[in-house]
Amino acid sequence: MSDETVTIIDDTTGKKVQLPLLSPTRGPKTIDISALYKELGYFTFDPGFVSTASCASSITFLDGEKGVLQYRGYPIEQLAAQSSYLEVCFLLINDKLPSRQELDDFEYEITNHTMLHEALKRFFSGFRRDAHPMAIMVGVVGALGAFYHDHMDIHNPEHRMITAHRLIAKMPTIAAWSYRYAMGKPFIYPVNSMSYTENFLNMMYSMPSEKYTPNPLLAKALDLILILHADHEQNASTSTVRLAGSSDANPFAAVAAGIAALWGPAHGGANEAVIRMLMEINESGKSLQSFVDRAKDKDDSFRLMGFGHRVYKNYDPRAKLIRVICHQLLNDMESTGEQKKLLETAMALEKVALEDGYFVKRNLYPNVDFYSGIIFLAMGIPMNMFTVIFAMARTVGWITQWAEMLSDDNHKIGRPRQLYTGPIDLEYVPIEKR
Ligand code: CMC
Repeated sequence: MSDETVTIIDDTTGKKVQLPLLSPTRGPKTIDISALYKELGYFTFDPGFVSTASCASSITFLDGEKGVLQYRGYPIEQLAAQSSYLEVCFLLINDKLPSRQELDDFEYEITNHTMLHEALKRFFSGFRRDAHPMAIMVGVVGALGAFYHDHMDIHNPEHRMITAHRLIAKMPTIAAWSYRYAMGKPFIYPVNSMSYTENFLNMMYSMPSEKYTPNPLLAKALDLILILHADHEQNASTSTVRLAGSSDANPFAAVAAGIAALWGPAHGGANEAVIRMLMEINESGKSLQSFVDRAKDKDDSFRLMGFGHRVYKNYDPRAKLIRVICHQLLNDMESTGEQKKLLETAMALEKVALEDGYFVKRNLYPNVDFYSGIIFLAMGIPMNMFTVIFAMARTVGWITQWAEMLSDDNHKIGRPRQLYTGPIDLEYVPIEKR
């Protein structure tokens, strides 16, 4: 923070107000406008929070112009190359890299809390078989609040940590069971001796009647994907978790709200939409340019899914890493012709778009979702599970951001204002006279 100020002069009244200019460790300086309404009687207007920092945070840094992403100061490239998802979880929630012993203890703690309360199983069967697994996940995660009263004092840091561990541990079980239920397959219980990702794959694919050994290549690729999705500062779902949690709602309800926000195709739902788009391109027999032209046409609602980002005006660093994993996985595995064809189409589409003036001018680059769906398909994960896995990975980010908010003694309930544009002072007309 700094002693600098910015002076705002109200041209209509000549009144002046000096507002503090806050300096982050890195990134644009930020004007503290919290006194503006008191001083000048004005609100600020910023739909979609394009120029507004909604909070101060020390968890994740990203520079969209340069394509930089860091968790607790560590570049994502280093974490992807050398760390593991559970180590990244420890880093995010504890604000430091663990010692060997701390990591072993943490892994033990997480792998031993993967079971769900038996009564929760009945929640799954209340859904239709064709329910989207994201709908099931929103419901079941919200319902966790009814099961863990024992550690739900949100003002107690120890309770917050226990909740974080519970959510990280139970999310793969909820995710896999959402899928199993839709497939009409029996629920597979977690196996504590397996790694986090092996256990998830086991719960997804094994059958009680057959021996199943998770493919280590897939488990490793999935671990990397989880690392890349673990946090992304104040995106729509994280801001939703913070806003829901700001009323002191229970953390499971707040995270369920985040899952709901993630579901949309403009956010986490984009990975599913990318595959649908690539399939449509392949099936249509039309040129890639014709799809790019549609994306440019303002009278057509079609957008290139997996392209563009509110913050990244450069190649999304996560997309760069995922693109490499995607190639490796399709080379190393027995991938089908269809998966290879989707990857080829994605790469060709990327090339056409990146050379097109419209995309160049608007700095529209592939984002994290452009290649992740192809990896999921290669893993045999059905399309409607893509966003569920995103939610599983992002849970650590949500709960860390929620805990950071509550640990700030000055935190307030989130309550934006509005620019009212409706009618005023109308006279009520009784129904018989309308
Ligand atoms: N295809 C065609 N045009 C686009 C696209 C796209 N994918 N994305 C942005 N634009 C255009 C947009 O029409 C606008 O043009 P103009 O200036 O002429 O009005 C300009 O680029 C700026 O776009 P915007 O909609 O103002 O940007 P935004 O920051 O509000 O939206 C976005 C960001 C991610 C919602 C948007 O780029 C988009 O809809 N992309 C496709 C969906 C997608 O891939 N979402 C995943 C996001 S990354 C995963 C995550 O973190 O959730």
